[in-house]
Amino acid sequence: MDAQEEDRVLIDDDADEPFVSNTLGYPVTVADDALPLVQHFLRARGQAFVVLADEHRALAPIAARLSSDPLCMGVRAFKLGEARKRLATVERVHEAMLGLGAGRDTLVLGIGGGVASDLFGFAAATYMRGVPYAHVATSLVAMVDAAVGGKTGVDLRAGKNLVGTFSDPVAVFAHVDALQTLPFRHIREGLAEVVKTAVIEGGDFFEALETLAPHPFWRWPWSSIVTESVRVKMMVVADDREERGMRELLNLGHTFGHALETASGYRITHGVGVALGLRAASMLALRTRRFSQREYLRLLGTIALLGMPLQTSVDPDATFAAMRSDKKRRAGTLRFVLPRAIGDVEYGVQVPDRLVKAVLAQLQRSPDSVG
Ligand SMILES: NC(=O)c1ccc[n+]([C@@H]2O[C@H](COP(=O)([O-])OP(=O)(O)OC[C@H]3O[C@@H](n4cnc5c(N)ncnc54)[C@H](O)[C@@H]3O)[C@@H](O)[C@H]2O)c1
Ligand SMILES: [Zn+2]
Repeated sequence: MDAQEEDRVLIDDDADEPFVSNTLGYPVTVADDALPLVQHFLRARGQAFVVLADEHRALAPIAARLSSDPLCMGVRAFKLGEARKRLATVERVHEAMLGLGAGRDTLVLGIGGGVASDLFGFAAATYMRGVPYAHVATSLVAMVDAAVGGKTGVDLRAGKNLVGTFSDPVAVFAHVDALQTLPFRHIREGLAEVVKTAVIEGGDFFEALETLAPHPFWRWPWSSIVTESVRVKMMVVADDREERGMRELLNLGHTFGHALETASGYRITHGVGVALGLRAASMLALRTRRFSQREYLRLLGTIALLGMPLQTSVDPDATFAAMRSDKKRRAGTLRFVLPRAIGDVEYGVQVPDRLVKAVLAQLQRSPDSVG
């Protein structure tokens, strides 16, 4: 054990053991170094495969190592990022797959963050009417959210994720060591989803986050955190594959979050929107007497300690208008996912507009406040 490991804040004795679960009917593996497990999976499957990677330089050694297998037909790296999560990129990926000789019986192995899992997963689901797909997740968002659950897709100019499929991968690997090169702002993006998941689950998971929050990220037992998040997401998704009910729980903080993203003209990232949205949802729960002041302060304290924002300069009227038009697009009523307690969250809650507006006003940073 090196000094850095000894210094880790341990919350779980099994932290160094890989986690493997088949809850969704395909193996989801979380390990500090997942690469030997990926290689083992590929060998056991015995199928020719192509590697598609996000071309970020931190990921090149991973792509090189996984493509060294004799069954590998070739590797292609693509410049990604949200702006390239588009059908035009999918076409380039399809052409590259064809160029590598990929056929109906070829496995696609994707490497990268949430953009990679959404885009390569979509490309695999649509190539020759669908070829098997496995993903090696390298960002926190991909590990705890995007790569797990079978949703793939791309953006249109009109909005995010408007084209896509529900297609299960054949395997997902969270390569936790990759987080060492992930910049803080991208850690924070994933952390908002981790906090959301911990509020849904409650108990030891939320307590662990409260304990870890004051410590620097390099001391966190990330494999335990990723494992817990994945476990909860898998349980929720397993009960509701196609998002007809229970999966709504995972949208905690997202009704406010999406509206803030839109109203800010995407100046606010998804993770920041979700962090603000978690606060807003719990303020709404407080105002409707679902949530106690004590629980509210626990959540608020954790969000603040994690360095996530509690207030925003985005205009409350514009945010409310964005919520309204989102509601119209879905031809439904505005319904919220609200906590009754940490570990007890309900969905489909209708709330009077005036309370929503009051919460948005409270969320707005006063002009003379710092930060
Ligand atoms: N399908 C779903 O259920 C689902 C759920 C949540 C999010 N998403 C999607 O995920 C996307 C966001 O994912 P993201 O935040 O991972 O974005 P991303 O894939 O763009 O990754 C963020 C940045 O980190 C880089 N990167 C990735 N791994 C790295 C590493 N190990 N070291 C250094 N840099 C690394 C990437 O090149 C990129 O610049 C969005 O498009 C969102 O819609 C999908
Ligand atoms: Zn989200």
